[in-house]
Amino acid sequence: MSLSRRTFLATPAGFGMAAGGQAFAANDHIQIATIGLGRRGLSDSQLALTIPGVQIVGACDLYTGSLLHAKEIWGESFFTTRDYREILSRKDVDAVIIATPDHWHARIAIDALKAGKDVYLEKPMIHDIDQGRPLIEAQQETGRILQIGSQFTSSIEYQKARDILRSAAIGKLTLVEAFVDRNTSLGATRYSIPPDASPETCDWDRFLGSAPKRPFDKVRFFWWRHYWDYGTGQAGDLYVHLLTSIHFMLDSLGPVRVTSTGGVRFWKDGREVPDVFLALYDFPQSDHHPEFNAILRLNYASGCKTDTLGFRFYGSEGVLTIQDGVSLTKTPREARPGYTVGGFPKAVRERFLAEYHRKYPDAPVSVESMRPEEEIVYKAPPAYNLVLHHIQNFFESVRNRKRPVQDAVFGLRAAGPALLANKSYLDHEICRWDPTNMAPAM
Ligand SMILES: NC(=O)c1ccc[n+]([C@@H]2O[C@H](COP(=O)([O-])OP(=O)(O)OC[C@H]3O[C@@H](n4cnc5c(N)ncnc54)[C@H](O)[C@@H]3O)[C@@H](O)[C@H]2O)c1
Repeated sequence: MSLSRRTFLATPAGFGMAAGGQAFAANDHIQIATIGLGRRGLSDSQLALTIPGVQIVGACDLYTGSLLHAKEIWGESFFTTRDYREILSRKDVDAVIIATPDHWHARIAIDALKAGKDVYLEKPMIHDIDQGRPLIEAQQETGRILQIGSQFTSSIEYQKARDILRSAAIGKLTLVEAFVDRNTSLGATRYSIPPDASPETCDWDRFLGSAPKRPFDKVRFFWWRHYWDYGTGQAGDLYVHLLTSIHFMLDSLGPVRVTSTGGVRFWKDGREVPDVFLALYDFPQSDHHPEFNAILRLNYASGCKTDTLGFRFYGSEGVLTIQDGVSLTKTPREARPGYTVGGFPKAVRERFLAEYHRKYPDAPVSVESMRPEEEIVYKAPPAYNLVLHHIQNFFESVRNRKRPVQDAVFGLRAAGPALLANKSYLDHEICRWDPTNMAPAM
């Protein structure tokens, strides 16, 4: 249905595409399959299926229960496998969603691109920094569409924030704060482990892949985020979102330096990765903004009522906050500086005040003398779903062969410095990053 009815178009200018890169006619179906049908893979797939013309033809997972569940949803004859290469060899699969644990991302994505599939790859795009280049090269060499799944670059709220920041509404940007506060067991990524978990229902050897061999452990299989061999800590899980968003809103290529600290403060459940994690990043000047520092923090036992992810952009004339909408508070600079003359001897005090009043004559108190105070809140419509928007953007790129909103280069610019925060934490050192060449720097 999909391949045979495709229209073959020329390569769009400025976007490398391999010979034979296809576009879809408006009413062609796009057939997808999902690799890693856990919590995210399932929800991404279900969102994709709300987009007209998108159909799912198969799924791959290593837990038998996920595959049984797929058949419950999509029918007994729905194609399922434990071997993702069986998905990639299918001619009727146009695009794949990859939502496995992080240590499988780069390998499966490169294999998928080389098999001619377009790819929606969940963040973080890599588990190790040196996997970034090969993935970028695979995207460039194959000309396939590869979009990374940090949804914030598609958000209309974040686009609004970017416009406000570019307009200099907060004056000169001086500091950025980005935070994730959680206080629930699910927030601390303690997801339910199915009671039938066993070496029979979980393909442990495949799960390990290139990670060190060890005996079956259902906690590692289902709580993989808590272990460095498979996950990337809070940096890969959430700092990637924070950095992606900062890069997007401030038109930045990325930071030049990071130092981080933290620890397992509350969730002492065997996890290796910290549940409180703090990082300081130095960002260089960009086209639209001066150099600035960013404080990133994450707390999984924050004592807060609700789990939140947010930002505060501080400027010389206001603050832009993103948390439950985008809120701009403008504080015009004072017309006259204050003074502290109480401790001066009388003659000095009088001399100071005479000079002061000459420089800043008393303004009459009038309607005109009132200082405007403003707080404007922008909110997306209640039904707005930024993840769906991000997935829609992917399928638009698949249809039109246009550059995706978040390609592998964008992905590495966020994942690289995020993973460096882990190195800083583990090695107790300041780490440097070259945002132009996208590589650790000396
Ligand atoms: N964009 C976001 O906001 C967001 C939110 C949640 C998760 N994610 C990302 O999605 C990915 C999955 O997270 P999750 O919470 O769904 O995890 P999960 O553990 O619920 O699901 C992962 C699934 O992958 C399967 N799997 C493991 N190795 C595999 C392999 N080699 N081949 C095929 N399947 C394999 C597992 O059996 C499991 O069902 C992670 O990389 C995570 O960072 C992104």
